[in-house]
Amino acid sequence: MQPTVVSPSPAWTIEGYLETLGGRLTVSGADAVELVEKFGSPLFVFSEPRIRANVERLKRAASAVGRPVRFFYASKANSNMAVLRTVRDAEIDCEVNSGGELYKALRAGFRPNQIIFNGTSKTDEELDEAVRAGIYAINVDSVFEIEMVERSARRTGKRANITLRLVPEIGTRSHLGLQTALLTSKFGISSSEVLGATVRALQNPELVHLGGIHIHVGSQTPDIEPFVAAFKTMWEHLLAIHRETGHALEHINMGGGIPVNYLRDRAMADELPEHERDMLGAELEPADVLSAAIDVARESARDAGAEHLLDRLTILLEPGRSIIADAGMVLTTVRNIKQRPETGDVWLLTDAGYNLMLSMNNYKWYYHLISASRADVPAGTEYKVAGPLCDSGDVYFDIEREGRLPDYRKLPDDVQPCEVLALLNCGAYSLAQMFHYNGRPLPAAVMVREGGRAELIRRRDNYEDLLANDVW
Ligand SMILES: Cc1ncc(COP(=O)(O)O)c(C=O)c1O
Repeated sequence: MQPTVVSPSPAWTIEGYLETLGGRLTVSGADAVELVEKFGSPLFVFSEPRIRANVERLKRAASAVGRPVRFFYASKANSNMAVLRTVRDAEIDCEVNSGGELYKALRAGFRPNQIIFNGTSKTDEELDEAVRAGIYAINVDSVFEIEMVERSARRTGKRANITLRLVPEIGTRSHLGLQTALLTSKFGISSSEVLGATVRALQNPELVHLGGIHIHVGSQTPDIEPFVAAFKTMWEHLLAIHRETGHALEHINMGGGIPVNYLRDRAMADELPEHERDMLGAELEPADVLSAAIDVARESARDAGAEHLLDRLTILLEPGRSIIADAGMVLTTVRNIKQRPETGDVWLLTDAGYNLMLSMNNYKWYYHLISASRADVPAGTEYKVAGPLCDSGDVYFDIEREGRLPDYRKLPDDVQPCEVLALLNCGAYSLAQMFHYNGRPLPAAVMVREGGRAELIRRRDNYEDLLANDVW
């Protein structure tokens, strides 16, 4: 008898979540091709079990360090209402970046004391909404904004909770557009101004309560060092503030930035520049980040006789990507195919362009592409892949020829029109950033629940939606 040959699972497989069954991709038990048949294409698909698993991973990291830690989901990553509800049901808190996100968070059922408000350009109206609601913290971006918050507290008759957002000049190995603690970035209060800002914030305690300090070093931060440097900086400011003013801060907010490994399947990794490969393929354990940060403070607290300040401290994080990126994907259908005899290229034209995945265009972000229709067939054939939009930049490679994305994508042999493809790890900063360019109705989104049941969480736009706000 011949021994049974078990073919290895594709490298992108995640047990219980991304698997193959009957040759097709399944998402937490739901057949991806059937989802497209039922809900149309292109289609965003999210997995509730995966979101919960990602939240649990963070919570495990918190219990490993044995200190009070609170997670505020960065809703900018994806503020679909069903996603927010899922995060809320997983019992963590919420970070917002505008009045609109604040509104959504409250509507999704987050209590005001579960909400943090970041942003560089808050309006009086937005501040009034936040102060009136009584949210946990408004992260103020400048000394001027402290004054704005005071005025809002006067207008609304409510005391506001604020946190100072700092910008200490800490670099990371992420894209420059995603680094937010450089002095050349637009965010926060410089280190040299922190004490002055604190004194200003403490001036009218009946209007403003200063609860903590915040540094977000940036998104997709592949190394532990910037997180530790940020924590050290904040801890030192906390000590100086206590020494100079007697005020004891209650929390240090480490921001977001825990990276996601976009290269779990490394089939195309060698085609990326080394620094992109390191950044996109980062594996960083949140528990290691937290314990390394706390170790720094513990040593210094002992030396400074400030253990009591550390003991009363709550550590906050604002994870976005690490909760939602690998819990979501875009399913797209090949609509057109062509050969280019002069170059020998085979082109696949899909229905998912950069209007759905803006990062693929502006950061040349790599999303691994597989066939959902033939998920168990080896991906050995190279294709040029492009979306449906009207400009040459709507391609899945680097049109500028700077090699930031692979020139070709590998899929099974003989892809035909109607084959369903999946762009993996698209859950963060994609649906949240999509737009109607070329009069393309925005796609539907579904959430796959425990047991493989898929629920519509965003209806597909119709043509009327394209006219909804035009006045004519
Ligand atoms: C202030 C702030 N907090 C949290 C985040 C979330 O970052 P990430 O999605 O990388 O966890 C961001 C996004 O860049 C941010 O600007």
